[in-house]
Amino acid sequence: MKRPILIHPDPRLKKVCAPLGDLSDELRVLADDMLETMYDAPGIGLAAPQIGVLDRLIVMDCVKGENETPRPLVMFNPEIVASSDVMNVYEEGCLSIPEEYAEVKRPEAVDVRWIDRDGNEQTETFDGLWATCVQHEIDHLNGKLFIDYLGPMKRQMITRRMQKLKREQAKARA
Ligand code: NI
Repeated sequence: MKRPILIHPDPRLKKVCAPLGDLSDELRVLADDMLETMYDAPGIGLAAPQIGVLDRLIVMDCVKGENETPRPLVMFNPEIVASSDVMNVYEEGCLSIPEEYAEVKRPEAVDVRWIDRDGNEQTETFDGLWATCVQHEIDHLNGKLFIDYLGPMKRQMITRRMQKLKREQAKARA
């Protein structure tokens, strides 16, 4: 089932999410809903707080191109265990900050440990777009958005545009 995506600014996007205990069918349904919501948007990553659930859960799939096999990843309690010294700059966007893009500098590669959909612990090194995406999504679990890496002027400008967008959306619904 598709879930509505929260738009910045929203206090739920600024919260530090709680670690998850044992996996349950309910959590697997939540992860599947998040993947459906992400693919539909369309996006390459989604974190639970973006649908108003303050759990440490992210989903992503950075495979591009119609002829390539999708690789949906579900990560419970994801953790960055090592980061490269080499940095990389990517133009980032966010489903909670629609139509806004900005360059963000992050480590080029990261080792991530997480619990997968079957409850197994996984560790993998990500680089390129996958590295940027996983760091962006884990940031969401700590209440951090990509615009927090920008200067205050630019951040305020984007936030004002989002406030305007939310007013317009509210009016359209009324
Ligand atoms: Ni995002």
